[in-house]
Amino acid sequence: MDAKPTLTLDGNTFSFDPGETILEVARRNAIDIPTLCHLKRATPTGACRICVVEVEGARTLLASCATPAADKMVVHTESKKVVQARRAILQLMLSSGNHNCAVRGADDQDWTAFQLKVQQEDRATALCPVWGDCKLQDLAYRYQVSGERFPAEASRYPTETVNPFIVRDFSRCILCGRCVQACNDVQVNHAINFGYRGSETKIVASGDRLLKDSNCVFCGECVQACPVGALVEKDVRYHHRPWEMRKVRTTCTYCGVGCQLYLHVKENRVVKITGVQDVPPNHGSLCVKGRFGFDFIASEDRLKKPLIKENGAFREATWEEALGRIAENLKEIQTRHGADSIGVLTSARITNEENYVAQKFTRAVLKTNNIDHCARL
Ligand code: FES
Repeated sequence: MDAKPTLTLDGNTFSFDPGETILEVARRNAIDIPTLCHLKRATPTGACRICVVEVEGARTLLASCATPAADKMVVHTESKKVVQARRAILQLMLSSGNHNCAVRGADDQDWTAFQLKVQQEDRATALCPVWGDCKLQDLAYRYQVSGERFPAEASRYPTETVNPFIVRDFSRCILCGRCVQACNDVQVNHAINFGYRGSETKIVASGDRLLKDSNCVFCGECVQACPVGALVEKDVRYHHRPWEMRKVRTTCTYCGVGCQLYLHVKENRVVKITGVQDVPPNHGSLCVKGRFGFDFIASEDRLKKPLIKENGAFREATWEEALGRIAENLKEIQTRHGADSIGVLTSARITNEENYVAQKFTRAVLKTNNIDHCARL
């Protein structure tokens, strides 16, 4: 059997499978190459160039996310040239639009002091809503750069807030295209794309309409893919800072698919939901209900006590009384009309285990096979 091809990354030799990119080989071997535009499950575009590496014998730096590994390749992932290129890319991004996480005038030695100052002011609404959870900010910190080097370029497009779910802040967009790929390649909704040209480039929906007037289905895949603060959940923006929330993993209860999600919880309330990356069945994707339909959890209208209807009106009851009444009535119906006069409807929004218990109760206790579920309950 032929030996696997190998390449050298920062002095260490690794084997790879034909077709793997340099980035994939590096990640598999715990070598950290930064990325911004790269999105798993989508074709690499090589748009942001932050993942460039130096390959011996190549005339230019190569985007590792889009360059296939080759036998005997010798790659340097953090050489002087690479670092210089990454710093320049970051400085260009930071000088375009509004990136006040790493504001102008703070390169090199003053940078940490500046960050500490910003940290103290983190509640100011002027500060980016994803401060502390932004890939661009992380990289600015890693490479110690700000937007000072190049002339500032203000954003051309106003922030769009006129829909119930997503705020589009074009001043923070770095045009990495992850949202476009998330929408087109991952969810296959084809709601957004690149529009206009050159310095006027903008991510547009249906020929530059508002999201609410486009064919966007508000699955929020674009929000989850956005590495910066350009796309943010409306209810979270400026209300909840990333470090105030703790993540609790659970299974979506809306349908039977079993999508894996994280509840972002603050003060015992769910304030945001994201998909769990890299695990089946949803691999991070969610639908509009799974991502945004959670207000009911803390709704004031939820029943907290059982109600019994008497003379056309409901009155509150204890659990003992309510369950006793149900048992009595079911027994009476069973005796008078037979077990098959009773039917049980469960729900796709409860867990498998709850549905299992319900069918057991129906078959073993009520002695009927009349059990079904209603997807809308
Ligand atoms: Fe490779 Fe953007 S991550 S070019």
